[in-house]
Amino acid sequence: MVISTQGRYTRTAIVLHWLIFVLLIVQFILGWTMPHIGGHTPVTTLISLHFSFGVLILAVVVIRLIWRLVHGEPAPADGIPPWQTHSARVIHWLLYLLLLVVPILGWINASYRGMPITFFGLFPVPPLLATHAPGWGWTGDIHVDVAEYGILILAGLHIAAALYHYFIRHDQVLQRMLPGLRGG
Ligand code: HEM
Ligand code: HEM
Repeated sequence: MVISTQGRYTRTAIVLHWLIFVLLIVQFILGWTMPHIGGHTPVTTLISLHFSFGVLILAVVVIRLIWRLVHGEPAPADGIPPWQTHSARVIHWLLYLLLLVVPILGWINASYRGMPITFFGLFPVPPLLATHAPGWGWTGDIHVDVAEYGILILAGLHIAAALYHYFIRHDQVLQRMLPGLRGG
């Protein structure tokens, strides 16, 4: 594993982390305000935006993962018990996994429903499978469940941990992911 000695994430990793945070907020708002998707729902603006932001999140996550694999993580902050370092890593990798699984399931489900996906009206995104391909109907429910229970609960724990480090332990963990005046 690559370990940077800077003590904080690279500027690129920080930008990508907060970009995904903002995109996810937009995406959940779109998911919860767009019309409920049923058997013959037309792809109206909010639904189309949900698809586009979802594909954008998937692309940014792939770039972020490549950056992460190449650049590694900074050495743990001083005085952090090993169990916290290990449990943080488990949560981080689960979040990465779900940030891939959720949009791919959404993309599969939109394809299954025969709903066209155009990336912000710029170009068509190809379907991943044929309309009503047998055996893929479950993808909509699981897309929603993993987004709402998986991502939201894990992100909630993750945010609680970051706030615990900042407000209770008063250590430098949160600062590792904040844009600073110095360092990369
Ligand atoms: C990280 C990215 C994504 C998140 C967090 C997310 C979240 C959600 C949420 C919360 C809902 C539930 C809406 C409701 O309450 O009815 C939903 C539904 C849906 N999303 Fe996504 N979504 C993501 C990406 C995508 C992508 C990339 C696509 C397609 C290209 C997509 C297609 C759908 C479809 C078809 C539904 C309706 C599923 C059903 O009710 O059976 N989503 N999404
Ligand atoms: C208020 C919101 C958030 C705060 C304060 C926050 C804070 C942090 C901090 C301090 C780290 C570095 C942890 C360490 O050094 O061990 C980190 C890493 C990470 N965060 Fe967040 N985060 C937030 C939201 C999110 C969300 C919504 C996601 C995704 C759903 C997310 C995914 C990740 C991942 C995957 C890492 C691991 C980075 C890596 O090692 O590649 N974060 N976050």
